[in-house]
Amino acid sequence: MGHEVGVYYRERVTLAVCPGSFDPITLGHLDVVRRATLLFDEVVVGVARNASKSALLDVGSRVALARAACADLPSVRVVEVPGLLVDLCRELGAVAVVKGLRGGADYDAEQPMALMNRHLSGVESVFLTADPRYAHIASSMVKDVARHGGQVEDLVPPGVADAVRRALGVVPTGAQPGSPTTPLPGGVTPPGPADHPNQGAS
Ligand code: PNS
Repeated sequence: MGHEVGVYYRERVTLAVCPGSFDPITLGHLDVVRRATLLFDEVVVGVARNASKSALLDVGSRVALARAACADLPSVRVVEVPGLLVDLCRELGAVAVVKGLRGGADYDAEQPMALMNRHLSGVESVFLTADPRYAHIASSMVKDVARHGGQVEDLVPPGVADAVRRALGVVPTGAQPGSPTTPLPGGVTPPGPADHPNQGAS
C-alpha cells in the first residue's frame, strides 16, 4: 500500500471556533481554548456580540485582550465575529464550535444555541467540562468584583484586570487616580472609561 506500519496520514486540517462574548476573557476561557488546541489543528477564538448582554468592553478591546492572552498559543488566532457565528464557521471551514460548561446553567444556555447553529449550518458543538479550578469564574462576576474594588488578578490573564477597572472607572487599590495601568503584552493599550462608557453586565 506504500504506507509504513505505524505511520498515519491525515490530509484534513481540523479547525474549531471557540466563540464567546469574552467581556472580558478569563482564565476559564483560556483553559478551554488551550484544551481545544489539543483536539483540533487550528483554533479560532471568535469574539462575538451576544444579543442578550450589554458589553462593558467594546469589541476591539475584547479582541485585543484575547489576542494578548493567547499570544503563546501558536495554533490560535483571535477574530471578531461580525455577524452570525455559523457564517464565520462556514467561511473558515470549521468542523466544530467549542465551548466550556461550568454547570447545568451553562448547558441550559448553550444547548439551544448549539441546536440552532446545527440547524442553520450543520456545524457540531463540542462541550468541554470546565476545569474545577476555573468553574467559579464568570466574566460577569469578574466585573462585579472589580466594580466593588475586589481583586480579580487571579481570575483573568495578565493585563485584563487593569483594562476592566479602567473601563469601569475604578481606581485600583493603592493606586493614585490617573496613574498608569499595567501595559498588556504586545503593547496593547488597555481601554479607558472615556472610550467605553457602557458599563452593562455580561
Ligand atoms: O460568551 P457568551 O455570551 O455565552 O457567548 C454567546 C455567543 C456570543 C457565542 C452567541 O451569542 C453568538 O454566537 N453570537 C453571535 C451571533 C449569532 O450567531 N447568534 C446566534 C446564536 S444561536
